[in-house]
Amino acid sequence: MERAPIFNTRKKSGSFSSSSSVGDEKHGLLPLANHQKPKIRVRTLLGHCLYRRVIIWTIAVLSILGLTASTTGVRLRHGRILDFVDFGQGGPDSRGRGEEGITFVVTAPGRDGSEAQDSEPSYQDDQGDEEILHGWLEFRHLDGYFTGIKALVSPQHYTAEYPQPQGAKQTVPTPTMSRMPTPTAYVPYPDYDSRQYLDRYHEVEVCYLDKEKTTPAPNLYAYNGVVQGQPEPVVGSHSLLGLRDDICFDRFGRYGPYGFGYSNSDGGLEVGMDTEQEASHPVWAKTGKINYSGMDWGDAQDRCYNSNRRRFIGAGGDWSTHAPSGRAKISRTAIVVRTYIGVEWTPHVILNFRALISELALRSGGEYGVHFLLHVRDDDAPIWADAAVAQQVLDDYVPLEFHSICTLWSEAQMRLLYPGSFGESFSDPSNADIHGVYRSAHMPLQDFAMKHPEYAHFWNWEMDMRFLGNYYELFDRLGAWAKEQTRMEMWERAQKYYIPRYHGSWDNFTRVVHDEIITSGRGSVLGPVDFPGRFPTRAEQSGQTFLPHSCYRARNGDEMWNRCGVGEDADLITLNPLFDTDESGWVFAEDVTGYDRALPIPPRRCAIVTASRLSRRLLEIMHEETWRMHHAMFSEMFPASMALHHGLKAVYAPHPVYLDREWDLQSVDAAFNGGRDHSTSGHGSPFGFENEHNHKGATWYYHSEFAGLLWRRWLGYAQMDGRGDNGGRFGSGKLRGGREEEESRGATGRMCLRSMLVHPIKWENPADLE
Ligand SMILES: *[C@@H]1O[C@H](CO)[C@@H](O)[C@H](O)[C@H]1NC(C)=O
Ligand SMILES: *[C@@H]1O[C@H](CO)[C@@H](O)[C@H](O)[C@H]1NC(C)=O
Repeated sequence: MERAPIFNTRKKSGSFSSSSSVGDEKHGLLPLANHQKPKIRVRTLLGHCLYRRVIIWTIAVLSILGLTASTTGVRLRHGRILDFVDFGQGGPDSRGRGEEGITFVVTAPGRDGSEAQDSEPSYQDDQGDEEILHGWLEFRHLDGYFTGIKALVSPQHYTAEYPQPQGAKQTVPTPTMSRMPTPTAYVPYPDYDSRQYLDRYHEVEVCYLDKEKTTPAPNLYAYNGVVQGQPEPVVGSHSLLGLRDDICFDRFGRYGPYGFGYSNSDGGLEVGMDTEQEASHPVWAKTGKINYSGMDWGDAQDRCYNSNRRRFIGAGGDWSTHAPSGRAKISRTAIVVRTYIGVEWTPHVILNFRALISELALRSGGEYGVHFLLHVRDDDAPIWADAAVAQQVLDDYVPLEFHSICTLWSEAQMRLLYPGSFGESFSDPSNADIHGVYRSAHMPLQDFAMKHPEYAHFWNWEMDMRFLGNYYELFDRLGAWAKEQTRMEMWERAQKYYIPRYHGSWDNFTRVVHDEIITSGRGSVLGPVDFPGRFPTRAEQSGQTFLPHSCYRARNGDEMWNRCGVGEDADLITLNPLFDTDESGWVFAEDVTGYDRALPIPPRRCAIVTASRLSRRLLEIMHEETWRMHHAMFSEMFPASMALHHGLKAVYAPHPVYLDREWDLQSVDAAFNGGRDHSTSGHGSPFGFENEHNHKGATWYYHSEFAGLLWRRWLGYAQMDGRGDNGGRFGSGKLRGGREEEESRGATGRMCLRSMLVHPIKWENPADLE
């Protein structure tokens, strides 16, 4: 069937430019640009946007014309994974073999102006209803998300609209409309002043936003309680990971401390002021409206770290794990945010990164460091030769307050770092450069890790992710939970979505997985895997292993279970399951390069969405495999496959993910664990080309639609509710939410949600699209 490429022209430039799409940006580093003091004041944001829009529009228009002229295939919009698929077309060098004998031709980013395609995902650009049945569209839309804060109840009185245990059909009490509750400061940090903390660790010095030490990094605010009827996450769990589920966050409590809800003249960002704001003032009662003009986040991070350096392993080249006093030192984690030229730094984007830095780096006393890896697309730009050139890039493309935490990189730099031939790929659907960000996003991260020995772990993070909650709580709890997981059957648990209302407790889930392994007869993976053509790393050649001693000392199965890997920091933490790509139908399943193609393709694992935490030793292995063996795999697949090959500890952390509709739980499991052995692996995988649409109503997936809808409603903007005929479609239905509705008589006010990750957030304030 023929179909013209569909561009989502509804959206204007704002949505195009914030693409994490395809490939943009993954980060590398350039020491030069780091910590340079800005010389030239950045232009106003507005000036910026206009400038960029002209270029983006030009590219968009040209590429629309180009594609219309040259393409007849079905258009699939695939966030950053896949740009367009064209059945049966394309030259001999741009052809890959898909699962059911379909020939995929996927255009590489940057070659066809595809960045400009990055707009909100929509159902229309899916493969088409004629071919794929979107059964889930028939489920009723859930309403409970949109009830406001005046319906706040204590956890004992709360009943979720969804999900209910199988068979149960409880009625949700009608929300009571009462007075506005009062938020309180939310502090999910260790009690740094407590005896218990100080007995074990070094004192923590308070960190300030300013040099004069007048403004300590602020707290965000939360409400105690849950909004009546609000749905619970279907996949993943707060309580399992140690995230609070008895509190909720509104937009003022979350962002008010960082410049939301007050004007430029007060040092704010002048957003949120046009939304409903009843009783929002307690957020500023203690600190006042913080004046962020003149903020320099790199300077604040450095001051914070320097005043706390005694706390950390590796500070000043001292790698001891304990201070002379006997108190333990802790390791540090970098958050490495991939950014690129062309990102639109709207006030909401700025808020997100202020929150990230303040909550992770400053309020923690320097335990985390936040960095931007800024991808300079122009390979000819002499960003290393001349500081003024690098400075000009920053001046043109990055708000001044973030200049000092940017590291510039380019693909030309990756070609220099990893020279030599990588050989033929098993399949290369994108036909993109092996050193390019699309296929090898990890390369600049590897390099960053090699140049930053002060960090033990690295979160790869992207511009279009948001955490509705406190970032420290998220990252700290994920790390702690991952550390406690046993290595026994670790890969098998990690390949399956955890659906608490369906699987019961985590223990039950663990038993279910165990039984499935027995039934499958496939056995479970423990330690490094062998396969034809495998090369040992230098560490392996010298007899080292990554399996901890605890795995060798156990005398029986129970001991093995309780000890092997328990207490060992994870080398890889992902936010979606780690699936076996073989026969999964995932388009890039065989984009594997540098191995002997006469031999079977090596075993692989993959997690969609590159957001993940990688350990230094995993990055070292990846680095060595890249420069020494010339091995490469598609971006989402390389870290997990290296962890698999070398016996590193990898976990999928089942963070809370919500669905927009009332799926029955059986169907959730069937759709999301529909692969081999009731997992996400192999044939029937939810990440297969034909199954991915199931994620569109979820809050976390690269082409999710619900994430953006929910987020913007929570921010206080009216949105089309996506309801209507045939199950509704994104952008259709009625305009709901926003100031008028939230303020109307008898309404329950603004939304207050429990913590969650949302992705992708391509635009926030609808005004930014104009
Ligand atoms: C905010 O800080 C800037 C620069 O530090 C200063 O010029 C301005 O007057 C301050 N604004 C307010 C409202 O205090
Ligand atoms: C354990 O999980 C299985 C599979 O989902 C389910 O059938 C069973 O009821 C659960 N048991 C408990 C005690 O939750």
